[in-house]
Amino acid sequence: MGKIKKIVLAYSGGLDTSVILHWLREKYKAEVITFTADLGQGGDKLEKIKEKAEKTGATKAYVKDLKEEFVFEYVFPALRAGALYEGKYPLATALARPLITKELVRVAEKEGADAIAHGCTGKGNDQVRFEVTARAINPQIKILAPVREWEFTSREEEIEYAALHNISLEAKEGCIYSIDRNLWGISVECGPLEDAWQEPPDDSFQIIKNPEKAPSKPTYLEIEFDRGVPVKLNGEKHPPVKLIQLLNELGGQNGVGRVDMVENRLVGIKSREVYEAPAAIILHTAHGELESLTLDKDVLQFKRVVSNKYAELVYNGLWESSLREALDKFVEETQRWVTGVVKVKLFKGSCQVTGRKSPFSLYDVKLATYTKEDVFDQKAAPGFIHIFGLPLTTSAKARRKK
Ligand code: ARG
Repeated sequence: MGKIKKIVLAYSGGLDTSVILHWLREKYKAEVITFTADLGQGGDKLEKIKEKAEKTGATKAYVKDLKEEFVFEYVFPALRAGALYEGKYPLATALARPLITKELVRVAEKEGADAIAHGCTGKGNDQVRFEVTARAINPQIKILAPVREWEFTSREEEIEYAALHNISLEAKEGCIYSIDRNLWGISVECGPLEDAWQEPPDDSFQIIKNPEKAPSKPTYLEIEFDRGVPVKLNGEKHPPVKLIQLLNELGGQNGVGRVDMVENRLVGIKSREVYEAPAAIILHTAHGELESLTLDKDVLQFKRVVSNKYAELVYNGLWESSLREALDKFVEETQRWVTGVVKVKLFKGSCQVTGRKSPFSLYDVKLATYTKEDVFDQKAAPGFIHIFGLPLTTSAKARRKK
């Protein structure tokens, strides 16, 4: 590696990246520039993060609001694809990484930096997502991952280092959980959650009410989709970011959107994770239901395969892959019909669909009904069954003799 003189660091303002900022300056005697993305993570105001970065020694601190781009270019495509990793995780963290990385590389190029740096550990998925994405955008880029190589072996040692070097930390650095948060959801690991048998303690949840303490009256929502994109809530049009924020609040109040799972990380480790994703769970539920109404059987069933593959690609850091782009084209084609309204009932942690309608509905009540409105020709059924079952009848006859 040539001499590294300028580094752009993906900076959240938390313990790890604050310590990294200082550590990089010491170790490489390099200039460090920080980049922070606003993805609706809440917490510190962006101005405060900028200030904090500069106080910790950054020569420049970029902060950029990427909420809209995140929703339009990453979250909605994943929603339309039905992407839930291992059938459960709506991929909030995984979807954010490629966008953060793209911007990080952009800043590095603009600043003529020699390297980018991130704060991911060597045991997780995020390091893979950052590095695979960065190289897909700029194959020449140098990447530093201090957490994989530095001397600290615990949070306590990092806190000690921070104290020694006057790096200001927040009270929440005492927090036992590792938390990643954006508009699409919150990912929580560590602490008591590492015991897969233990029920997640109440304090591991940040935004969702304990379902036991949620209102004992249900909340009904009507969500309208236009070609697979949610556009209205209870008849009112909202910009996408706002719509997701509203659903996070409504779901959160009703205890909806908690996910507790053991998942397969890319690096081979099984990991117990807790997610909070009210808007994502409500929207995936409603969107999937509208597809059940509007997509024909073959497309609907094949799309399940696509959903799984799509989720796997996103999870494994392959957002920039040609396969993901090709799958997006398939999804786009299917979503032409996914327009309509879904009625959802939120109640003490559950999110149930209670009604659906669409101008492209394939549900034909005249075929389904058991009343005299019925137009289905029941006399055609015996012939159909005879031919449909012919292979089984044939083999039964042939084999019974033997
Ligand atoms: N397991 C999830 C994923 O790989 C979440 C990781 C989030 N990181 C964290 N610091 N909690 O997408």
